[in-house]
Amino acid sequence: WPHYAPLIKSINALKAQRNAVILAHNYMTPEIFHCVADFRGDSLQLAKEAARTNAKVIVQAGVHFMAETSKLLSPEKTVLIPDMRAGCSLASSITPEDVRMLREAYPGVPIVTYVNTSAAVKAECDITCTSSNAVQVVESLGVPRVLCIPDQYLAKWVQSQTKVQVIAWKGACEVHERFTGEELRAMRADEPGLKIIAHPECPPDVIEAADFTGSTSGMINWVKDKRPRKVMLVTECSMASNVAVEVPDVEFIRPCNLCPHMKRISLENIYESLVHMQYEVTVDPDVAERARRAVERMVNLTN
Ligand code: 13P
Ligand code: SF4
Repeated sequence: WPHYAPLIKSINALKAQRNAVILAHNYMTPEIFHCVADFRGDSLQLAKEAARTNAKVIVQAGVHFMAETSKLLSPEKTVLIPDMRAGCSLASSITPEDVRMLREAYPGVPIVTYVNTSAAVKAECDITCTSSNAVQVVESLGVPRVLCIPDQYLAKWVQSQTKVQVIAWKGACEVHERFTGEELRAMRADEPGLKIIAHPECPPDVIEAADFTGSTSGMINWVKDKRPRKVMLVTECSMASNVAVEVPDVEFIRPCNLCPHMKRISLENIYESLVHMQYEVTVDPDVAERARRAVERMVNLTN
């Protein structure tokens, strides 16, 4: 990518000047992921890094809920997102009013929210979870029944892993819900020896057809560890590109579902964000205090 070189150089110089770090989700494009990111990971790893970093400025190369989570855990830092429109279909599937309605409908039942929600929704919930710790979080509550919002498929996957009764909401990830068990089975028939690994945001028939299910980092670690000859990552496209450079002996069969929200982040707008210190993500202090409690409860559980 020769035309990227000057941009990469300028971004790295600006980071030093601004005392900034770039936290990049595993779905970022390879030039962001490999050339300008300071920390890479899944939602949980990025949240933990936001709490730990000594930098003054965090540039979130990810989506809006991730930037809000960074702000909750690092309120004294400036948190920037290069494009405010980088949303998430799960985060927009539920409002704080919906959560209050659930509280009334299920009195006394704890509410676990996936981190893929707004800070205002988190503020109404008892604890957050990510795809890498959802089962552990649900079981940590020591109760027979929990609400697990907003992803119906993550909730179903958690239900398959625990005896706790899991009540779901109706949200779905617009990227993962597009995969089908049928396409996976067809792929397996075409590619002998293929290993298929899926994200828990996928529908149950997809998870059933897969050899392993885990968070984005869980999937990357599985590939690095098991070194399958051929693998298909049932998740966002950039994951395969990012991990492929580290495991040249593995062949990636690539279904391509892009997350349009993640793909709003580019080297160009990361550069602009550091030049103009835009766009700052803030959370109302009252909301932040309540939402932080839910996020910190999760982070402390898995430290
Ligand atoms: P992970 O926490 O597994 O990285 O998932 C975040 C996400 O948005 C997946 O679609
Ligand atoms: Fe949200 Fe799905 Fe995009 Fe992840 S991949 S940010 S869950 S829309």
